[in-house]
Amino acid sequence: MTGNSAPKNLVVVNHPLVLHKLTLMRDKNTPSAVFRQLLREISLLLAYEVARDLPMTMQTIETPLAEMEAPILKGKKLVIVSILRAGNGLLEGMLDLMPSARIGHIGLYRDPVTLQPVEYYFKVPTDIDERPVIVVDPMLATGNSIAYAIKRLKEKGARDVRLVCLLSAPEGIKRVSEEHPDVPIYTAAIDSHLNDHGYIVPGLGDAGDRMFGTK
Ligand code: URA
Repeated sequence: MTGNSAPKNLVVVNHPLVLHKLTLMRDKNTPSAVFRQLLREISLLLAYEVARDLPMTMQTIETPLAEMEAPILKGKKLVIVSILRAGNGLLEGMLDLMPSARIGHIGLYRDPVTLQPVEYYFKVPTDIDERPVIVVDPMLATGNSIAYAIKRLKEKGARDVRLVCLLSAPEGIKRVSEEHPDVPIYTAAIDSHLNDHGYIVPGLGDAGDRMFGTK
């Protein structure tokens, strides 16, 4: 997905440090503890990019030497919404950089018959209409769950929504950007395709299992 086929709102964070750490994460021999640590480190770098255009204002402060007008973030603290369970791996690193952020969680599973997302948990701050909202999920695969999660957040009033995914498939980018063209997508890499089980190829396997050592 390059050139004209790439959606306008797609930001590929292909910084050498991100790519190096991602390669280590993809390696099937990387143990869970290292995988989690790498994800935490990459999420700091992704957080840095997704926060690049947050609104700023000036505030008068006093340094030990003089009074000055200094830039400071404007408005209410942002919200980070983790799509359970793998989203929590990205959430932790984001919070290292933005410790005052509010946090939401959305739990979804895929109905085995209809293949549609089914919501089992939804808890977000009540005033998300007044805050920038960053949705985090390491894997943008089919995009069905993520598109659904964003729809729910918009129903609750969210107006400034940004999506951060470590790895993306072209299918998922297409799905989310068609349904939510206003939502910028930040990702470290776009892989080749999805396999028949909805896994990203070459990908890194099941992010939740690799993170939590459940397989
Ligand atoms: N979810 C994962 O954890 N991995 C994939 O490759 C796709 C979805």
